[in-house]
Amino acid sequence: LVIVLDFGGQYNQLVARRVRECNVYCEIYSYKTDIEKIKAMNPKGIILTGGPNSCYEADSPTYTKELFELGIPVLGLCYGAQLMSHVLGGEVKLADVREYGKTEVIIDKPESKVFAGVSTPTICWMSHFDYIAQVAPGFEISAHTADCPVAAAENAEKKLYAIQFHPEVLHTEEGTKMINNFVKNVCECAGDWKMDAFVEETIQSIREKVGGGKVLLALSGGVDSSVAAGLLSRAIGKQLTCVFVDHGLLRKDEGDEVEGVFGPNGQFDLNFIRVNAQERYYNKLAGVTEPEEKRKIIGEEFIRIFEEEAKKIGAVDFLAQGTIYPDVVESGLGGESAVIKSHHNVGGLPDYVDFKEIIEPLRDLFKDEVRKAGLELGIPEKLVFRQPFPGPGLGIRIIGEVTADKVRIVQDADAIYREEIANAGLDRSIGQYFAALTNMRSVGVMGDERTYDYAVALRAVNTVDFMTAEAAEIPYEVLNKVMSRIINEVRGVNRVFYDLTSKPPGTIEFE
Ligand code: XMP
Repeated sequence: LVIVLDFGGQYNQLVARRVRECNVYCEIYSYKTDIEKIKAMNPKGIILTGGPNSCYEADSPTYTKELFELGIPVLGLCYGAQLMSHVLGGEVKLADVREYGKTEVIIDKPESKVFAGVSTPTICWMSHFDYIAQVAPGFEISAHTADCPVAAAENAEKKLYAIQFHPEVLHTEEGTKMINNFVKNVCECAGDWKMDAFVEETIQSIREKVGGGKVLLALSGGVDSSVAAGLLSRAIGKQLTCVFVDHGLLRKDEGDEVEGVFGPNGQFDLNFIRVNAQERYYNKLAGVTEPEEKRKIIGEEFIRIFEEEAKKIGAVDFLAQGTIYPDVVESGLGGESAVIKSHHNVGGLPDYVDFKEIIEPLRDLFKDEVRKAGLELGIPEKLVFRQPFPGPGLGIRIIGEVTADKVRIVQDADAIYREEIANAGLDRSIGQYFAALTNMRSVGVMGDERTYDYAVALRAVNTVDFMTAEAAEIPYEVLNKVMSRIINEVRGVNRVFYDLTSKPPGTIEFE
């Protein structure tokens, strides 16, 4: 176990992730965590993260000097490095020149254990306004930059390492190597931890936390809530109840697929409640064309249904959520605060659900790690590698009024599109792709007959963060095949468009 002590920096989770990438187990704790608790966990190493404060100011986060006297290796990063120097008698000051961005770092001590195999100079990511002006007694400078005399320092005998830059950020070209060096060469971690261990450990900790209590989870069938359901089921079996609301706006056969995995004939032990609310939704959405109003109705209706089910179940001890780390970041919340997923798939939390505490087993993981955990749990690949799907579902991929017939059209067209993308081997390389139903009808001819039917729009985008996106370049033959299959197989469609718009100015979805 390596402990990451969180001092409020923006890259803390990345530090943890890099450590896990070295196959070393790691947990993040607040800097407020008592030293006795840390000692009791008997970690092989401790990493102090960056943070926004100045360590020499009175009310800034700090830590007792004793931490550095335990004989446990400590790596301080940025604020953590400054704090280590400050607490141990060095001097930290406001720098004349603020360093920000990619910076050339010259390694002065190539024999340092953390810099083993690292080239000099090496490009590192800097972001600081304070600097270590004077290293603490017993420390030796191991790297510098043009503007910063102490880019790294160490007291190798005491296994204390201070690094001013951010090795956890990928812009630091050899950063992963440095973190690997610290955990393997200095902490002497074996590096045999894998995702199966995360799964086992999480199952254990869920058991300890939940005890004999009851847990309720809203299962959407998306990757995150599915993996959360899998973990909870393995931990506490029938103490878990999952409510799956089929709002009739899912992709083709998706409701049945979710039921197949988590329902009574599936591989997981839990109480599975499927609410077939298709009619209820179509009735609510009849005649509604304004996109925001549609979204609101879909979200609110979900909450009402979930509340109704929760009332039937009665009081539960925990409400589980599939919150993953990027949701925490997007909600603008850092390490220590308790978070309710504000980026919830369906637009908010129910007002009335009688529970005592939230449980979020995936809170520290990134999407690809969640997927790995899902595979580890035996959740089918089809579900684990599902693309992002918006909470309001096909409701925002049908422009204008939603009707049962339009849902059928878009489901069938989308299923063909997905099948052909997979046949072309493109399904894992395109960020997100789907069919949408425009609200436009036009004249066509089919088998000598005049048609007056709908136009389907195909969308496919590549994106890093879903904030910006480019239309994907799908080979023409693939698009052509999709077009011809949709026209031939989906009744009610006589035209197919490919949407070339990037985001901005477009959005990925249509409403
Ligand atoms: P836009 O259309 O805003 O979509 O460019 C960006 C990404 O967000 C997804 N999306 C949603 N996801 N609830 C969600 O959970 C929503 O209401 C929602 N709206 C859009 C969209 O699929 C894309 O991946």
